[in-house]
Amino acid sequence: MAEFIPVGSFDIVIFGGTGDLSRRKLLPALYHRWADGQIPEDAKIIGISRSELDDTAFRSFAYEACCEASPDSVNKSDWKQFEKHLHYVTMDATDPDADWADLKAHITQDSDRPLVFYLAVTPKIYVPICQALGQAGLSEGNTRVVLEKPIGTDLASAHKINEGVGAVFAEECIYRIDHYLGKETVQNLMVLRFANSLFEPLWNRTAIDHIQITVSEHYGVGERAGYYDGSGALRDMVQNHLLQLLCLIAMEPPNSIDGDAIRTEKIKVLEALSSISPQVAKEDTVRAQYAAGAVKGEAVPGYLEELGRESGTETFVAIKASIDNWRWARVPFYLRTGKRMKGRHSEIVVQFRETPHSMFGDTEAQSNRLVINVQPDEGVRLYLQIKEPGPGGLRIKSLPLNLSYADNFAVRYPDAYERLLMDVVRGNLSLFMRREEVEAAWKWVDGLLEAWEQADVPMQTYQAGLEDGPVEARLMLRRDGRDWWEAT
Ligand code: BG6
Repeated sequence: MAEFIPVGSFDIVIFGGTGDLSRRKLLPALYHRWADGQIPEDAKIIGISRSELDDTAFRSFAYEACCEASPDSVNKSDWKQFEKHLHYVTMDATDPDADWADLKAHITQDSDRPLVFYLAVTPKIYVPICQALGQAGLSEGNTRVVLEKPIGTDLASAHKINEGVGAVFAEECIYRIDHYLGKETVQNLMVLRFANSLFEPLWNRTAIDHIQITVSEHYGVGERAGYYDGSGALRDMVQNHLLQLLCLIAMEPPNSIDGDAIRTEKIKVLEALSSISPQVAKEDTVRAQYAAGAVKGEAVPGYLEELGRESGTETFVAIKASIDNWRWARVPFYLRTGKRMKGRHSEIVVQFRETPHSMFGDTEAQSNRLVINVQPDEGVRLYLQIKEPGPGGLRIKSLPLNLSYADNFAVRYPDAYERLLMDVVRGNLSLFMRREEVEAAWKWVDGLLEAWEQADVPMQTYQAGLEDGPVEARLMLRRDGRDWWEAT
């Protein structure tokens, strides 16, 4: 049984309370924390949106949402207890004439008690909402504001949001979410690196040949095509999730797990990322869109067909990145992510160097490899070379020491939002991004977008559901004498 550390009482106000994020993630996450006994009896969850609902209708909405998210875990009689926490206020928070009295009447009058404003709305209205909160006198006391990604669409817009929100809330009250940081296996990256003395002496250019970070998704963009087309794989996934994984793999050991200690180290990695010139972009990056293909034998449309028009937005990106510092000089970090890929798998592969001299002659010996499965089949596999038993010649085989989460822990893995929401209430900032991190990541991504444009890097294609990206992404590694690790 997992142990849960109770949190103190709190109020959480969800702007966009009836929106997609609230329905798919936030309400189910809060329900699960409640079901595990982590939410105090007098905690309040207040949904806000423009939809004309009352508490009863919002509770039904939340019930449907939780059943949809995890059909087996919602119990109707328990639900009656949980729904007492749920309240609803109809309001357009961006309307300058909005009346905040109703919301204020719902909020518990205790300036020591954490009051969380979760902005599950489009980033375009982060600043107006924060300004309105300030004017309504709701930014005082023990308040926290949670911002979902994407924070802007480039450095300039991210800067503007950070300035605007920062004019109302102090940096230590701003929680910028990247939900990958709430995933169990992502948190395990730090434990793996810094709670085992085995790895640190090897974690550098002398022992490591290269690192691969892959986030492959099986789904297409579907109903999100409208949003996605203004974003693309680079902004939607690399700017945040993949760069955060890269930071955790590449950062120097922080002196504690205190929020600022970790974040300071991550920022140094982002600042050391080598900028990509147009010439380098041609050779070391690949962008592509999925064309029509098939999933489980059923034909599926290509990206442009789903969108219904022409578009220059990539659904796949592969990048050979480098980090300009002593630890990682000349160690490539190959990043790739795509929608409608052959399989759904996210993993990090640390490929160690070959032995300096092979005394076993013409065998199949490979180099050591550490594979961290982020999802699914969460776990860690360390590939070692062993002698294949049997008489005759000496045959060497590469086999993994396999540390599977499923085999070792019989627990439900909490959704990333469960941990992140409780961390906001606890005031633990370590899994949230600091302003400089977001801006440094945008600076690097902006540079790459500009390089793509200047060098006119072609848009490749891959067959939806049938390929792990375009052939050009494989060729990019082949030129370096390497291959992408194929998940087994
Ligand atoms: C989101 C992206 O941040 O992460 C989506 O906007 C993507 O496009 C999703 O599908 C992936 O998250 P997960 O947890 O399913 O890997």
